Amino acid sequence: MNIIKVENKEALSIKAKEMFVDVLQNTVAPILGLATGSTPEGMYKLLIESYQNGDISFKNALAFNLDEYVGLAPDHPASYRYYMQHKLYNHVDTKRMNTFLPNGLAEDLDAECITYEKHIQEAGNLDFLVLGIGENGHIGFNEPGTSFESRTHIVTLTENTREVNARFFDSIDEVPTEALTMGLGTIMDAKQIMLLVQGERKREILKKVIYGEVTEEVPASILQKHPNVTIITDLDV
Ligand code: GLP
Repeated sequence: MNIIKVENKEALSIKAKEMFVDVLQNTVAPILGLATGSTPEGMYKLLIESYQNGDISFKNALAFNLDEYVGLAPDHPASYRYYMQHKLYNHVDTKRMNTFLPNGLAEDLDAECITYEKHIQEAGNLDFLVLGIGENGHIGFNEPGTSFESRTHIVTLTENTREVNARFFDSIDEVPTEALTMGLGTIMDAKQIMLLVQGERKREILKKVIYGEVTEEVPASILQKHPNVTIITDLDV
């Protein structure tokens, strides 16, 4: 794993933006994998600026998000579709038809997972995948104990994850109990991965991810086996 240590949150966003811009400028029709959460927000802001300056375009890109809550409509402010529209897509030249998230409102959620996975594979797998990490080591919504072989699937969110994400909702009762997420197998098929890890609360888990045993109890530890992972972090570990 290639580890880039930066000074602070701002420097992390700049470095992440630079890697992203490099992919957009050097890939004819990039297949992107995108994450939500607080960590990549600054990067998305800077990408909008790069777009406005004429440095990049998303017009030939396909973008697949890692995950989505079950039961939230696209216009729910805590849905990941809403996040992507407001923090990136509404401000750049992505075409709505080229941006995908698992549909958490699908009547048949199992069928939705199969379709989403197939769609990624038919596109030729992800060229560049942005990841954040949960304090328990989850990537996407792959909670501890998820199989390393997993493909897009339904997950029951842990109480801890619901508590951590409650800040995006009016109360914890409104946090969905389930989500759809790319699996760890789907993630590992990405050609290049950029993992963003920011803030003291992630220190213990980052140590485990980099130096610990590769175990399904720490989902992100599987990244040790990936040939092209860059971790950008403001933590000295
Ligand atoms: C959520 C998302 C993850 C994200 C994680 C960390 O649970 N499903 O994809 O990586 O939160 O988010 P944050 O960057 O806000 O710490």
